[in-house]
Amino acid sequence: MPLLEVDDVVVQFGGVTAVDHASFVAEAGRVTGLIGPNGAGKTTCFNVITGLQKPNRGRVRFDGRDITRLSVPRRSRRGMARTFQRLEAFGSLSVRENVRVARDIHRGIAGLVRPASADVDGLLERVGIAAYADERADSIPTGTARLLELARCLACDPQLLLLDEPSSGLDEQETDAFGLLLARLAAEGRAIVMVEHDMDLVMSVCDEIHVLDFGRVIASDAPGAIRANPDVQRAYLGYSDVDEAEALGEQTMEMVL
Ligand SMILES: Nc1ncnc2c1ncn2[C@@H]1O[C@H](COP(=O)(O)OP(=O)(O)O)[C@@H](O)[C@H]1O
Ligand SMILES: [Mg+2]
Repeated sequence: MPLLEVDDVVVQFGGVTAVDHASFVAEAGRVTGLIGPNGAGKTTCFNVITGLQKPNRGRVRFDGRDITRLSVPRRSRRGMARTFQRLEAFGSLSVRENVRVARDIHRGIAGLVRPASADVDGLLERVGIAAYADERADSIPTGTARLLELARCLACDPQLLLLDEPSSGLDEQETDAFGLLLARLAAEGRAIVMVEHDMDLVMSVCDEIHVLDFGRVIASDAPGAIRANPDVQRAYLGYSDVDEAEALGEQTMEMVL
């Protein structure tokens, strides 16, 4: 049974259908990619999964239970954590304090249930930002701030980790290290769901990829099959035929996917 099940979810904003009967799953021990062009509905899906957005229809199941009507804090207590596309750290606190606050809030909520609490400096070490521990969070580079968000999530020891464009701001070396870290987090038995534009990272680290286009899931498959899928190619470039794209001087799919 998958840890997370999104089942026939619809989200409408006025006349815009942001998510259109989307169904997909994410399993423990695996990295799942959620990709698609800008405006495809990826962040809205994350909002539905985490409880920030009520769906017009459809269900979300977590660990076999229907959580569609559960509040955000209750979902967090059940073992869900996410990062945001826009960074959300406390700017005037240090990097270490930001992680400590996240851990203490979580401990306050779930301390009785899960007495083992994460070691803050160990978490900074783990995501590779220990050198910034005493810096104010509003003074660190964007890439470091993204890793700080990840450390804040890990302080809650989540079963399901949702990452919204985590690699933006990371350089190539940091992105490689980040990919390895995601694989290790999944190997611990967590389910990782990642919205990401860096296709090299997506293709190298994801076990399964769901592709959204205009709110619909147009493909769910392993990376190799996703790369070769003509519907996916069309969604990204408007061409299914690489020769046609090349003849028109467009980027070929190989360059994008
Ligand atoms: N709060 C909102 N109100 C109105 N429209 C929204 C809102 N959030 C998202 N949308 C629209 O829903 C669609 C999907 O957006 P989003 O989920 O942010 O896409 P993605 O993350 O894939 O880029 C877009 O057309 C966007 O403009
Ligand atoms: Mg988005």
